[in-house]
Amino acid sequence: MINVRKMFLEDIEAVMKVDKDSFSIPWSRESFFLEVESPLSSYVVAEEETGRIVGYGGFYLIMDQVEITNIAVLGEKRGQGIGKSILEALIKLVVVGGGKIVNLDVRNSNEAAKALYYSYGFKLVGSRKGYYQKPSEDALLLSLDIEEGLLDD
Ligand SMILES: CC(C)(COP(=O)(O)OP(=O)(O)OC[C@H]1O[C@@H](n2cnc3c(N)ncnc32)[C@H](O)[C@@H]1OP(=O)(O)O)[C@@H](O)C(=O)NCCC(=O)NCCS
Repeated sequence: MINVRKMFLEDIEAVMKVDKDSFSIPWSRESFFLEVESPLSSYVVAEEETGRIVGYGGFYLIMDQVEITNIAVLGEKRGQGIGKSILEALIKLVVVGGGKIVNLDVRNSNEAAKALYYSYGFKLVGSRKGYYQKPSEDALLLSLDIEEGLLDD
């Protein structure tokens, strides 16, 4: 069983392991610290029954606009529905926080993440040339209108 709950400062070490396993340029400890402490941000972790953290995700909310910064699952734990659970938890927090539009960037080649976001109603709204490094790649900008998304359900 996986439990998705709020991220605390004590989780940062374990979350950094997930991040290193997931991205070519992982975030620093300080970046996570600032995100967890920020009143604008909401971060969650996916935790196994043993307490092991196997995924995380988060966003920041400004007015009613949301930016999902990251969602990641430990490599060996992918394909088991954990990414979906994290995204669902984030969307619930967005609704509670009064967010209306959810934006995110994704690597053009990231088929797993694109499929996950499209399955939740995100739509392609643009791209940013050469946005990513290591390797250099375009970002796709995806957006979800929460009210439209809820009406679709
Ligand atoms: C993207 C990521 C978070 C998905 O997490 P996950 O736990 O493996 O995803 P889930 O098992 O919940 O799958 C959810 C959906 O994603 C899609 N998906 C997941 N893995 C996929 C793959 N290898 N190929 C294609 N689609 C895939 C499917 O639509 C799947 O739904 P389905 O099982 O009903 O078909 C994970 O692959 C990851 O951590 N990747 C590295 C970090 C990253 O790229 N994050 C996104 C940054 S924008």
